[in-house]
Amino acid sequence: MATLEIRDLHVTVEADNATKEILKGVDLTVKQGETHAIMGPNGSGKSTLAYSLAGHPKYTITGGTVLLDGEDVLEMSVDERARAGLFLAMQYPVEVPGVSVSNFLRTSATAIRGEAPKLRTWVKEVKEAMERLNMDTSFAERNVNEGFSGGEKKRHEILQLELLRPKVAILDETDSGLDVDALRIVSEGVNRVRETGEVGTLLITHYTRILRYIKPDFVHVFSAGRIVESGGAELADKLENEGYEAYTKGGVSA
Ligand SMILES: Nc1ncnc2c1ncn2[C@@H]1O[C@H](COP(=O)(O)OP(=O)(O)O)[C@@H](O)[C@H]1O
Ligand SMILES: [Mg+2]
Repeated sequence: MATLEIRDLHVTVEADNATKEILKGVDLTVKQGETHAIMGPNGSGKSTLAYSLAGHPKYTITGGTVLLDGEDVLEMSVDERARAGLFLAMQYPVEVPGVSVSNFLRTSATAIRGEAPKLRTWVKEVKEAMERLNMDTSFAERNVNEGFSGGEKKRHEILQLELLRPKVAILDETDSGLDVDALRIVSEGVNRVRETGEVGTLLITHYTRILRYIKPDFVHVFSAGRIVESGGAELADKLENEGYEAYTKGGVSA
């Protein structure tokens, strides 16, 4: 079983000619097959955690370690992270002009599997995955994220997740901007992947509503750059009723 181990992670960004520490010692272990939710107020550093794990150049790791199966993730290039089995869906995914969804998926699958998927089975695989997500087949010919609506971006993420079958998937605000139907379809996709037992999922969210569809094994409250409380699914219910106020008093959240 693969394990992602984040230990005492400290991260800074440069903003307004000053160095600002955003992550202040994050500790988290996600095992293949487990679903973790990270919940916290806006500005607490949740996306910074996702970007740091993705290797985004704006974020400087100033302390701590991240290991996947004992391998140092922080030493890996972005491509190596994907090949090692990390999947990162960003809150604001980038456009890739000139690259169709279909080509993008096949290139990614080739990189991750170490060989190009057989064309016949691959076409079928993609078609079936798109049908499960209620996506029109013409979507495959569009350029990645170009002019995608919020819902299309999120479906595209889940399509990648289903086809690429990573060891650990980090989904940042997958629920934001979705109407109820899209939220249900996206959640069902996450649940299908989860049921394989082969993917560890880190679901980062501000709102509790996605947790009505995806029942996490663990819930972590994130505040001012670190995890301040961990529990089971019942912790999400508490947050739904009480909000984050108890965790942000005297803290630095927006
Ligand atoms: N690239 C960046 N440049 C400057 N400040 C940033 C950058 N990324 C994040 N921050 C700051 O770090 C803090 C945490 O942001 P973020 O990680 O997006 O929080 P969350 O996802 O929990 O809402 C905020 O104060 C934000 O302004
Ligand atoms: Mg965020």
